Amino acid sequence: MSIKQRIQRFFILSAFGLTLGALIAGLSILSERHGGDGSQVVATGIGGPFTLIDQDGKTVTEKDFAGKSLLIYFGFASCPAICPTELQKISLAYKALPADIQKNIQPIFITVDPERDTQSVLKGYVALFMPELIGLGGRVEQIDAVKKTFKVYAAKVPEGDDYTMDHSSFIYLMGPDGTLQALFKTADKADFITKRILEIRGN
Ligand code: NI
Repeated sequence: MSIKQRIQRFFILSAFGLTLGALIAGLSILSERHGGDGSQVVATGIGGPFTLIDQDGKTVTEKDFAGKSLLIYFGFASCPAICPTELQKISLAYKALPADIQKNIQPIFITVDPERDTQSVLKGYVALFMPELIGLGGRVEQIDAVKKTFKVYAAKVPEGDDYTMDHSSFIYLMGPDGTLQALFKTADKADFITKRILEIRGN
């Protein structure tokens, strides 16, 4: 390779590197502008049909919520810290919305621990947060199916004679058409969630 070729190659690679760098910088600026916490990284293929049982023992499917936006959180009732914090956040975010928007949004808690979170446990648990919160459980197979649909990670971790649950923690905002509109992380505050719901709804 001649000196000239080497120089040419150097410049081509540099130009490529700069373009790549600019692209990456551009992308990170874009995500910064949208909150900078990755909340706007909306993955595809999340959500879909489900059949579960609510805290009153009624079988519930996604069709029962047709036309509504859903704020969904997956967790378990005996979770010591994260689940209560996130459900409290949903409650605050929901309460800050105008009444006409509230009536088109359904907050939902889905257990990843169906063996311990029986109907009566769920009933008592959701009542701790807000009257509008629906608690969904069901048979292990039903929970496995909904976890798969929403790409939820959850696993039993032994704890003494008992177990705890290790689980992913996202608040899903599903649109009235059943598609994922936003995925909120634990770092997102309640007012950010309220703001995003209003933005998405065009208010
Ligand atoms: Ni938890």
